[in-house]
Amino acid sequence: MKRVGIIGLGEYLPKKVLTNADLEKMVDTSDEWITTRTGIKERRIAAKNEATSDLAIKAAKEALLDAKLAAIDLELIIVATITPDMFTPSVACYVQHGIGAKNAAAFDVSAACAGFVYALSVASQFISRGTYKNILVIGAEKLSAFTDWEDRNTCVLFGDGAAAAVLSEVEAGGILSTYLGSDGTRADLLNIPGGGSRHPATTQTLEDRLHYLKMEGNEVFKLAVTTMAEAAYMAIKKAGLEPKDIDLVIPHQANVRIIMAMAKKLNFPQEKIYLNIERYGNMSSASTITALCEAVKEGRVKKGDTVLLDAFGAGLVWGAVVIEW
Ligand code: COA
Repeated sequence: MKRVGIIGLGEYLPKKVLTNADLEKMVDTSDEWITTRTGIKERRIAAKNEATSDLAIKAAKEALLDAKLAAIDLELIIVATITPDMFTPSVACYVQHGIGAKNAAAFDVSAACAGFVYALSVASQFISRGTYKNILVIGAEKLSAFTDWEDRNTCVLFGDGAAAAVLSEVEAGGILSTYLGSDGTRADLLNIPGGGSRHPATTQTLEDRLHYLKMEGNEVFKLAVTTMAEAAYMAIKKAGLEPKDIDLVIPHQANVRIIMAMAKKLNFPQEKIYLNIERYGNMSSASTITALCEAVKEGRVKKGDTVLLDAFGAGLVWGAVVIEW
């Protein structure tokens, strides 16, 4: 088995900033409520003419530059997303064309907020077994296109963005373990019911606002804490480590209270938790990889550090990855 590591990172956040003060003018909410209940202050919103693949392509180009690789060196592109440009073809195919990766296969992974962790786990199998040498893994979302801007329960939580990682064989360190889980019995807690084969688009589904994200926040909150803690613990154990051996935790950025409750369960001190939720809100598949990208840029991850990615999302799904940097 070959060692697999991240050799390049890139991100793209749309320019438009939507603040809590802006949301106060749209729905019955307040900066105080959003800040204390979630930790979010602002989020990015993609332009009307920007689709998920446009965000993904920009992040991909930055990651390739960082990895010092050309697009033709890629053999596979995996995009984690729940907000594709359209149902088919995949966002990964648009990225393949957009960056000129003419030697790459391409597909999407749908695992909601755990999407990047799932995609990273899939990609690492191809490299560890020697099938491919260089793989681009992207988390990209335009959640603003599926957000009900009249529903204060959900519209304050989400944002748009993309980030990418180039995976390659490395000589030391790299991915030490991956752990994934799911529970489809709770699929009703968080979904976008309309527009699929269960409820194909009709004027009625539009009137019923079924094409927007629906969520039972309270229930999701509790399950997020327990499953993120379980995923973190299992991945750390699989790596032969203890929670105290983790230098930096990069959690899915859904709610700062979820993150801190998970951290408490595993005795992670606050200074080992990376947060950027204040600036971007929940970007689903794009959250953990954007946080990793920014943590590295800010010098929070040093060579030899042990980093934990930990995520949870609709499905329900969850997963964690331990990486030696
Ligand atoms: N502004 C003001 N009030 C709001 C509000 C908003 N944006 N959204 C909801 N409320 C109200 C509710 O209507 C409720 O009012 P009521 O008591 O009169 O019925 C009250 O605030 C409390 O709602 P509750 O659901 O108990 O709040 P909470 O502490 O659970 O926080 C969430 C709500 C959504 C922030 C929280 O449950 C959460 O983060 N859940 C997980 C969401 C998530 O992470 N989803 C993605 C998973 S990857």
